[in-house]
Parts: sequence; C-alpha cells; structure tokens
Amino acid sequence: MNSFTLSSPAKINLFLRILSKRPDGFHDLATLMQTISLADKITFTISEGRNDRDLLTCNDPAVPTDATNLIFKAAELFRKRTRLNFAIKVNLEKRIPAQAGLGGGSGNAATTLWGLNRFFRKPLSKSELMKLAGAIGSDVAFFLSGGTAYCTGRGEQIKELEKLKDQAIWILLPEFGISTPEVYRNLRLDECLDICPEELLSGFLQGQGQVCNDLERPAFKVRPELEEIKRQLANQGMAHVLMSGSGSSFFCSEADDKGREPKIANARMFKANFINRDEDEWYC
Ligand code: C5P
Repeated sequence: MNSFTLSSPAKINLFLRILSKRPDGFHDLATLMQTISLADKITFTISEGRNDRDLLTCNDPAVPTDATNLIFKAAELFRKRTRLNFAIKVNLEKRIPAQAGLGGGSGNAATTLWGLNRFFRKPLSKSELMKLAGAIGSDVAFFLSGGTAYCTGRGEQIKELEKLKDQAIWILLPEFGISTPEVYRNLRLDECLDICPEELLSGFLQGQGQVCNDLERPAFKVRPELEEIKRQLANQGMAHVLMSGSGSSFFCSEADDKGREPKIANARMFKANFINRDEDEWYC
C-alpha cells in the first residue's frame, strides 16, 4: 500500500512560563504539553522514484496548500536528510483551527515526519526526527513524544513524561485567531509569573497541578475579548480555565462533572480528553 491515513492531534499547554528573551529573538520557555483527542486527519499517498510534484488538498480554504504549508516543509526536510526520491499527495481534513494555540500546523508537520519515516522503514532515528522537527517550528518536536512532555528551550527540548491521569476537558474556540508573533511582541518579562516551572511540574506529577500561562496577559492586550471569555467561563462554573499556548483557544474542566456545556457567544465548544501514544504507534 502506498497510501495511509494518520490522525494529527492538537495539544494544550497545561502551564507555560516564559523565562527570558534570547539573542536569536525567540524566548526561552518551560511548558507542560499534552496531546488531546481533537485531531485533524491526514491521508498520504506516496509515489516513489518519480519526479511528481507534491500536492495538498484541504477541506478548509483558509489553509495554505503551497510550499508554506508545514506538511510540505516536513516532507522536503525528510527528503533532503534521507536523499530518498519521492513525491506526496496529501488530503488534509482540518478540525483544529489555525492561530488557536493548539499546535495544529506543528502537529501536521510531526505527523508527516513520523508517517514518512515509518513508510520508508525507519531510515531516521527518533532523535534525528526530533532534530528535523526543531528546524520546522518550536512545537513540532513535542508531537514526536508520547503525548505528555515537559518542553524547554524554544519549546523544542523535550523531556518525555509518564501519561497524566486522563481528564475530560472543554476546548473553546473563539471565532477569531491570534498571531503568535504579535502576542510575543506584547509580552513584558517583568509582568510574567514568579513561579518556578520545576515546582509547577512536580505539582502535576503529584496529581495536583496548577494551570498558568504567561502569554495570557499579552494576548489579552492584543484581543481584550479573550479576557472576557475567560471571565465568562469561570462564571459558568468551569475550573482550571486557561488559554492554550499563544491563544486564541481556551481549555477548562467542569468543577462538578455534571456534563454541562459552557455557552459563550460566537465560540465553538469541543469536548476532548488527554490522549497518548505507544512508542511504535501513532496517535489514534
Ligand atoms: O517556532 P514558531 O514558528 O512556532 O514561532 C512563531 C513565533 O513565535 C516566532 O517567530 C517568535 O516570534 C515567537 N516565539 C518566541 N519564542 C518561542 C516560540 C515562539 O518568541 N519559544
């Protein structure tokens, strides 16, 4: 078979601390990331040894289908690194919106690297794949972990963790996205939290984690509506309400397990749970 379909999950940041600005313009951060059941579906068809062009179709017209799509960037890096001669036809069924802080595009890139490596019988080791992933974007390497990881550096230094206790969560998607570079431009390091990330991590490992995100404050400056959404979710009895990554999505859990769906105007709501994968399997 030269065709296969893989699920490409979203992630949330259970905590996200920004530590410093680096000389390369990026920020050193420390974050606990978790993959969740909200996922895109990607079907790859590989033609080997031919000079066909890579092609991408997608159900969402807002998704770029040219060389800027991270799926093509991942395929190109894999081709260069392995010197394999192939082309890919990709059908991307998008459910994770762009600019939501859910790592949709990054997850698509990681899924492409993992899928190609399996198809070609593992020419690259996991650490070689992680290196390619780091060159695509700060969040891509995380998706090559087992689904729960403490990430530092730009986000690409991965410490894999045992899976956490599963948790039913609500994901809230506002009708607008937010630009990650713009959020970082509005970040002030002197306004960041003063909590040691290692302490936050050990709280989660002991089953009593405290969610927090240093990017909320700058994102609220860019889109003040986001602060209002957070307030409304808390008013509706939701617990652990937090923006994911650089926004614009939020996640929260029910304080009382009554299955009540929060209602926020002009926003979509998805029920999700934590997912993890075994070493030789992809997420499903
Ligand atoms: O690596 P990625 O493409 O996700 O980064 C998008 C933008 O987010 C960067 O251009 C940078 O402005 C900002 N960023 C940052 N520090 C990080 C990750 C991202 O400043 N650790």
